Amino acid sequence: MVKCIISDKAVLTQKSDGLLFFVHENFSFKKEFVDVAKLYFPHLETLFKTNKFEGKLGQRVSVQGSSKEGIKHLLFVGLGSKKKTAKYMELEDFRRILGASMRWAETVKISSLACEVPATAVYGHGTEFMVRTMTTTFLMAEYQFDDFISNDAKVHKLDQIIFVAPKKDDKAAHEGARVGTIIAEAVNRSRHWVDLPANVITPPELAKRAKKLAKDHNLEITVFDEKEIEKLGMGGIKAVGMGSQHDAQLVIMQYTAKKKNAPTLALVGKGITFDSGGLNLKPTGFMETMKVDMTGAAAVINAIAALSQLKPDINVVVLAPLAENMVSGNANHPGDIIRFYNGKTAVVGNTDAEGRLVLADALAYASKHFTPTAMIDVATLTGAVSHAVGPFFSGVLTQDDDLAQRVQQAGETSGDATWRLPMIDRYKVMVKSDIADINNDGKSKYYAGPTNGACFLSHFVGETPWVHVDIAAAADEVPDTPYYRGIGATGVGTRLLIDFVMQWK
Ligand code: BES
Ligand code: MN
Ligand code: ZN
Repeated sequence: MVKCIISDKAVLTQKSDGLLFFVHENFSFKKEFVDVAKLYFPHLETLFKTNKFEGKLGQRVSVQGSSKEGIKHLLFVGLGSKKKTAKYMELEDFRRILGASMRWAETVKISSLACEVPATAVYGHGTEFMVRTMTTTFLMAEYQFDDFISNDAKVHKLDQIIFVAPKKDDKAAHEGARVGTIIAEAVNRSRHWVDLPANVITPPELAKRAKKLAKDHNLEITVFDEKEIEKLGMGGIKAVGMGSQHDAQLVIMQYTAKKKNAPTLALVGKGITFDSGGLNLKPTGFMETMKVDMTGAAAVINAIAALSQLKPDINVVVLAPLAENMVSGNANHPGDIIRFYNGKTAVVGNTDAEGRLVLADALAYASKHFTPTAMIDVATLTGAVSHAVGPFFSGVLTQDDDLAQRVQQAGETSGDATWRLPMIDRYKVMVKSDIADINNDGKSKYYAGPTNGACFLSHFVGETPWVHVDIAAAADEVPDTPYYRGIGATGVGTRLLIDFVMQWK
């Protein structure tokens, strides 16, 4: 993993073989770049002109210069200009610029990269936050799922990145790098678990990894196996796991704050290690990527690991119901009627709507045993959310405006952006059934797939304030976001949950 270092010496004097310069639109060459030109590349101004480099958002010019120390690779990237309507520039644009800069650094094969930390006036955040964001983003950009590829296909990796911040901000910058690293490690571990295929990550294997993490971070952990799940009356998890040769599991982890009477937040994550659809089998083209269906479980488990290091004054409890949704002579049938932990019953109208079945038991268990102040679930619940919000967002469904606001805020600060979708009582009729309390399929004439899922889940949260985040759209293969690689898992939800908890007041 690349090392992040703090320095107060100007970027142009850094010994790194790579220097990255952030350039605002309408910059003054005389004021800002004369010294850079003198030191490394005399024709820099001409280069800018022939490339029409004006510091516009996304514009880039790179050049190989030289100095007494050796070859210097310089990259100039445009940050754009503030819109008339906006107080600050958009942070997500900056994250993407960092990602693209990392891709450049890999291509030119530098070992060290130095860049300045933008001042508060640019993005509206101080040095600690900016260094945290830069650290997390660069470390995420570095991640590659390369367990199964031979050496020559692995990308070049940097040794270090130097963040230049004013001396007075030294402490804040170090804290930012510390926190940013903890977050990135959690996100990248989530991505790795999601990227590992379903023949490696089975429910028991995922539970084993959760146990290892709990041990490393002094977290309490309980894992119920399939027998215990059945005994407890968790008919949803049981039904979904029935068709698989691998036992379903319910992972419960706890972080206890030092502070007495701290509020408790419950984080619940969908952990389907593979979703074939069950007897309502998914067709070719829809099943191949379904190892992503445990993204929610990876997010909650890795978020609590990060939180145990960040030590908020909040108690955190994590529940991850794990199962593999398969076809076999033991699989549950469309039309089966099952009973959940809270006593409610449902018709399994469609075995492919399995996420809500496993979450139902976990939500019911969490609200009964931990009486949390609030509960949030993250789940790759519907394909429909992709059509609603596209790959840059997760859908937020709740009837609690305060929670919606908190999730929205955490989405902006963390980078796991969210968008609220409709959730009202009048839609709850869509999950009603004539032969059981509810139906997991919903009535198709209402469309609104993500809302349908949320209406089903609302039967299992009791009086607990609750928000559902449908992360299916952003879980993998997110395009045009260079801090991902365009392929593989994003670990979506991990950053979101960490900020959601850390910002709780
Ligand atoms: N795991 C899928 C949702 C999904 C789709 C996640 C694409 C990631 C990418 C979920 O279990 C599912 O199959 N949902 C059904 C629900 C329907 C049967 C009510 C869907 O979206 O079609
Ligand atoms: Mn499914
Ligand atoms: Zn699923």
